[in-house]
Amino acid sequence: MDYKIAVIKGDGIGPEVVDSALEILDAVGAKYGHRFHYTEVLAGGCAYDDCENPLPKETLDVCKASDAVVLGAVGGPKWDDLPGEKRPEAALLGLRKELGLFANLRPAILFGALKDACPLKPEIIKDGLDICVVRELTGGIYFGDRGFKDTDMGPAAYDIEIYAEKEVERIAKVAFDMAMKREKKVMSVDKANILESSRLWRKTVEKVAKDYHEVSLDHMYVDNASMQLIRDPKQFDVIVTTNMFGDILSDEASMITGSIGMLPSASLGGDNKGMYEPVHGSAPDIAGQGKANPLATILSMAMMLKYSFGLGEESDCIEEAVTKALDAGYRTGDIANEGEKVISTAEMTAAVKSYL
Ligand code: NAD
Ligand code: IPM
Ligand code: MN
Repeated sequence: MDYKIAVIKGDGIGPEVVDSALEILDAVGAKYGHRFHYTEVLAGGCAYDDCENPLPKETLDVCKASDAVVLGAVGGPKWDDLPGEKRPEAALLGLRKELGLFANLRPAILFGALKDACPLKPEIIKDGLDICVVRELTGGIYFGDRGFKDTDMGPAAYDIEIYAEKEVERIAKVAFDMAMKREKKVMSVDKANILESSRLWRKTVEKVAKDYHEVSLDHMYVDNASMQLIRDPKQFDVIVTTNMFGDILSDEASMITGSIGMLPSASLGGDNKGMYEPVHGSAPDIAGQGKANPLATILSMAMMLKYSFGLGEESDCIEEAVTKALDAGYRTGDIANEGEKVISTAEMTAAVKSYL
């Protein structure tokens, strides 16, 4: 089959990890007889530098006309003083909103070989770890009204958290459907002791739960959830939460898997089209040095094959190759322990490729 993929390499380590992921994708294509057609477009800081717009219309058009989008990362200190709508990060929000990608799946899986890279005590993670964070992606405080006003405490700025029932309903359904294929447990994370939007969230999730008798639903306040993730991560199966809480909790969950460089993501809407990107950012501190861990982006390709193209075997093939490379002891700096040999982005890519 032929597939059209929009490629946004972005800023910082974005180009390095995307090049690596596409090399793996091409190798999988060659093995199974698929052709992936890439159209590279600009978004983020590099797009701002090019045309003073972090998300040019052409980029959006190409993404809309593609079967899936691959994105590296955007942002960096160079663009930190721009106004909000010109910042590289605005491109991500625009892409998510315009493509209708309201469901962000962030699986945090601890690979057996990486138990030593996890900072938690061995007894806490002895049975491994497999959590799926389902983050709402096109609502909440990221998209509510924001602005400035004068107050008696001086100039002020505000960002409003707002959720409509239908927005909560559709993300809850994604979480319950996901749980049905897993351990049948959903933990909804909110701040319902304080926020009206969280109380509506909780009530709506409970309503959706009535259609899923086999799935057990619990609720947890976000402050407790961030603590429980470290104390006993095994208690979680699917976590469903708001845009902002999901952003924060998924970075926390990533560390349990050894590194933020390990966490892939899929952003999905109503149809098969999705955007696939690592959870990490542009990592300006290591950009251009060949040090970035490409596995989060490579694993995002496995998610793309599964969710957008329905290619389960090909997807498994990537995950198995990553497992084998880790089992064989290949480590980029972020997942290496003292004394372990550290390899480059390109060497990790070659290692994974050799096991496909
Ligand atoms: P970051 O994820 O870029 O980096 C945090 C730390 O993790 C850094 O020390 C970095 O070196 C390390 N790290 C991240 N990815 C790694 C990888 N693949 N391999 C090895 N180490 C890795 O987060 P930050 O420093 O808070 O943000 C930097 C920039 O990235 C900011 O401009 C931010 O807005 C942007 N950002 C973009 C995205 C995205 O495009 N999806 C996500 C998060 C942050
Ligand atoms: C992420 C990032 C983005 C977010 C930023 C860069 C807009 O942190 O994808 O996790 O907060 O959603
Ligand atoms: Mn984030």
